[in-house]
Amino acid sequence: MRFIVYNVRDDEIPFIEKWGKDHQVDVTSTTTTLNTETISEAQGFDGISCLQTIPYSRELFDSFHQLGIKYLALRNVGIDNIDMQAAKDNGVLITNVPAYSPESIAEVAVMMALYLSRKVGYMRQQLQDKHEFHFSSEFMGRLISEQTVGVIGTGRIGRHAIQLFRGLGAKVIAYDKYPLKSTNGEFEYVDHLEDIFGQSDIISLHMPATQDNFHLFNHEVFEAMKDNAILINTARGSIVNTGDLIFALESGEIAAAGVDTLENESADLQDSRSTKKITDSDLIKLSMMPNVILTPHSAFHTTESVKNMVTISLNNLKVMFTGGRPKDIVG
Ligand code: NAD
Ligand code: COI
Repeated sequence: MRFIVYNVRDDEIPFIEKWGKDHQVDVTSTTTTLNTETISEAQGFDGISCLQTIPYSRELFDSFHQLGIKYLALRNVGIDNIDMQAAKDNGVLITNVPAYSPESIAEVAVMMALYLSRKVGYMRQQLQDKHEFHFSSEFMGRLISEQTVGVIGTGRIGRHAIQLFRGLGAKVIAYDKYPLKSTNGEFEYVDHLEDIFGQSDIISLHMPATQDNFHLFNHEVFEAMKDNAILINTARGSIVNTGDLIFALESGEIAAAGVDTLENESADLQDSRSTKKITDSDLIKLSMMPNVILTPHSAFHTTESVKNMVTISLNNLKVMFTGGRPKDIVG
């Protein structure tokens, strides 16, 4: 049994090595991104573990087939970047890690809400740009307990976010395409997304990217949101139209945004050793705005997550290779 792990960061290596030793399996790590050119590195291996947000295309799955590789174990949750039909057509079984640490992402959503509600970006800007250390009227913040938080997607991460926001005293309303049977009295479902847009002071996104929510947050929706609203996206970039978001922030249609996931994330994102400078003009603009907190799709990134992502992904590969059917099969 031989497995290859793509897109490996330094912080994953101890967990990969431990798993190989514990299971007496030959596991090779590479920092390379998986694509139609680099898949040749997987020749002779029995399965691939991977984590990336760029597309897993039909051509890539055709290459899996040519190399006789039947198993792909993701180390992450999201499966929106996978051509599932192509995987199926090429006989590739895929697993994900659906719950490596939902708390890790929920905590970042709440951290962003606090950062933006307390105007920390404005304070940082005054300190960095003017080297001034004093109060300012534009630093006056808002208590979370005085705000209504609208959560879209009440799955694993959304439910943790609700608990944390409730712990800070917020009123929580939520929308889900497939609502839970019971809310345990912790929050209230609304029937229409428009109610979330119109009533929320903070909107936190926790649903997968699908065809029907592509650019859900666009100019029209930003206009429908409160002027003092904060949008937090730790879900997927494609749900928000970035150009419209920048316009909404600059024109005062909304007050602030927490952005962990951005549309068109490139392969550079996964290259933890890269020293390449950003050139994307939207990214540069967002990174300089005091009413924005921008993180490089790192909401997942805690020790607990990394350990679970590596271990569960490699466990899934082993189960698939030995003829079993792990519960984490997707597609
Ligand atoms: P989950 O499957 O447990 O929950 C998703 C919820 O969204 C479900 O309740 C589902 O019914 C609901 N939903 C699906 N489509 C919807 C729609 N169009 N409108 C409203 N609700 C909809 O998933 P999760 O573990 O909570 O993760 C949610 C998303 O978070 C993932 O799909 C992924 O895109 C993202 N994520 C981001 C990071 C990060 O580091 N930023 C890490 C993990 C996951
Ligand atoms: C996920 O697990 O879906 C994430 O968004 C994390 C990322 C490292 C791909």
